[in-house]
Amino acid sequence: MIDAKVSKLLNEQVNKEFYSAYLYLHFANYFTEVGLAGFANWYTVQAMEERDHAMLFVKYMQHNGIPLQYEAIAKPEASLLSHRHVLLGGLQHEQFVTASINAIYESAYVVRDFRTMQFLDWFVKEQGEEETNAADLIKKLDLFGGDPKGLYMLDQELAGRVYGPPSLVL
Ligand code: FEO
Repeated sequence: MIDAKVSKLLNEQVNKEFYSAYLYLHFANYFTEVGLAGFANWYTVQAMEERDHAMLFVKYMQHNGIPLQYEAIAKPEASLLSHRHVLLGGLQHEQFVTASINAIYESAYVVRDFRTMQFLDWFVKEQGEEETNAADLIKKLDLFGGDPKGLYMLDQELAGRVYGPPSLVL
């Protein structure tokens, strides 16, 4: 039996991960509109990973008989003011998701739900990587983005990101 609070938080996390995918598609659309196809690709791949995260939570809940309810996905914030503003929004969003994963972990810890804690271990590590990636992107933009040639090269680099399925399989 999974604790009611842990169940509720897991259900909310499904929505947060799908929202993350939606937010990153919104970011990708911004970069498509300004003509930076590499950045758009990077966020499109990121959105696919977020969908995978959502589905991992879905599968975990289904495998453990936890009631699942899909809720409405919120509209992503409309105003994207600059390239940097988008990237910073990405980092802040990942920090928000990390806090959310940690909160589920803490609830599972309190009720000695070792199964959920073990499931979440992968996400704790993943969030560390996602925050690093988001912060690195801001550093690169700050270093090279001020000059058109540098921005072009960075966009080319980001065009090379390819989708791969998550290393966690349920
Ligand atoms: Fe699924 Fe980027 O956190």
